[in-house]
Parts: sequence; C-alpha cells; structure tokens
Amino acid sequence: MITKCLFPAAGFGTRFLPATKAVPKEMLPILNKPLLQYGVEEALDAGIYNMAIVTGKGKRAIEDHFDNVYELEMQLQESNKEHYLKKINQIIQNSTFTYVRQKRMLGLGDAILSGGALIGNHSFAVILADDFCDGYESGVISQLVEVYKKYKCSIVAIEEIPLNQTSNYGIIEGDLIGNTRNTYQVTQMIEKPDEKKAPSNLAIIGRYILTPDIFEVIKNTQPDKNGEIQLTDALNFQAKQGKVIALKFKGLRFDCGSVRGYLKATNYLARKKGFDR
Ligand code: G1P
Repeated sequence: MITKCLFPAAGFGTRFLPATKAVPKEMLPILNKPLLQYGVEEALDAGIYNMAIVTGKGKRAIEDHFDNVYELEMQLQESNKEHYLKKINQIIQNSTFTYVRQKRMLGLGDAILSGGALIGNHSFAVILADDFCDGYESGVISQLVEVYKKYKCSIVAIEEIPLNQTSNYGIIEGDLIGNTRNTYQVTQMIEKPDEKKAPSNLAIIGRYILTPDIFEVIKNTQPDKNGEIQLTDALNFQAKQGKVIALKFKGLRFDCGSVRGYLKATNYLARKKGFDR
C-alpha cells in the first residue's frame, strides 16, 4: 500500500516572479484554493494520509496553511462563517504533515533524495503541485496507485504533447503492454530532449509512484550539464531494468508554473464551478 506522498516544494517559481518573490509558488491559488491543497486533496482521495513536504527558504506559508489558526477560527465562529475553513480543517484533522528543508537547489532528483528521511523504506507517491491535474473519474494519483498494485514498480503519469515541446519535459520511450491502450513498459527516458532527439511525444507529468530503491539510484546519478540531479535520469536506470511503467492518465493537466498554464487552469475551473456566470 502507498501511505505517503512527497511534495517537492523548494523551487523558486522563477517563471512566476515577482508574484513568487515572497509567496511560495505552491501557495498561488486557483480560484480560492492554493495549488498545494489541490495536490493534498488528490493524495487523500487516493487513501494517502501522510504528506511529506520538501521545502526551502521562504516557504513557511506552507506550514502555516496546514495548521490551525485559533484566533481566526474563533472570529469566524462568532460571525457564523466557519464554513470558509471547513475543508482545510478536515484536511488538517485527517492527515499528518512532515517537513524537511532541501539544503541546496540541485534539481528534482536531489529534492526527492532530501525527502527520503520522511519516507523510509516504502514505495511512495510524488506530486509536483505546480502541475494542476483534474482526473476524469478519479484523481491521477489514484489511477497510478491502481497500476502500482498490479506491477509493484515505479509508475509515471504521461500525456501526449506537441513534438515541439519535448524540451520542457521528461520524455519516455516504451511499448504498449498487452491489449492496454494506455499502459507502457518504459524502455528509456530522457530529460528535456530537443525535438530531434525525442524518442516519442509522451511526456512525464508531475505525478509518480516511486519504489524506495530510487534513493540509492539517485545517490549514484550524475548531475546533468547544469549541475542538477534529474529524477528522470534515476528513473531511466530503473527503466533499463524493466522496472518503470508509464500510464497515460485520464484527465486534464495544466502547467501552473507558467502564467499561461495558470490562466488556463483558472479559466477551466471557473467555468467548471460556475464562477464565470
Ligand atoms: C520536472 C521533471 C520533468 C517533468 C516535469 C513535469 O521538470 O524534471 O521530467 O516532465 O517536471 O512537470 P520541471 O517542470 O520541474 O522543470
């Protein structure tokens, strides 16, 4: 069973400056809810109650968000407005939050490694909260957990992207399994290849299930040309041993690390929830 979800949340949010100068990018709201809370709700929907968050400098608002604020609650009670905090209070009550600070900014692989102390020797989920996902029938992590139950190896969520965007993503090469239309045995993965070097247009999105041997693999993974340790390179090692499956998930995904994707997600959800009427 998957009982923990790791949220790498130490990044600077460069593409969203100056908004992210003092506010963590994971705390930017889509409508009235921060991105990270959507991620936490997705984990909870998959039956995962332990949230492990890798933070960094300037990220304290994250800890405050997932904590009680008695003064505010008292005030809301007096004016019969408690419903505003109902959902977040349920989350706080039903889950545990643990935190670790990433000491150096050395890429996603290093962020995952920093989270290792919070995870232990079990397979775990990973959510990159700036990828906002809306699964059709169930959340993306729930979909990955179902696949994990069958294959018991690392699982990545993928989607088709236009070929001229391969340099923004980890790209997989793989073979469709049996008669599934959406599940691939991954043979190779490349982080942000040029269009010409991309083995496919199947891009990894910010949802993973990782087996705990990934920590040792990351420790032995060489940094890339920018000095960053890439999770994709570590997963490539597992893939070469036949230990990575990719699932074309059912749902929508928005890159909320960019202003354009954030706007699209906001418009999508506003329409879905009727805020635009
Ligand atoms: C990271 C990963 C990349 C993945 C992407 C999904 O990149 O390194 O493989 O495709 O997340 O959002 P980042 O967006 O952090 O540069």
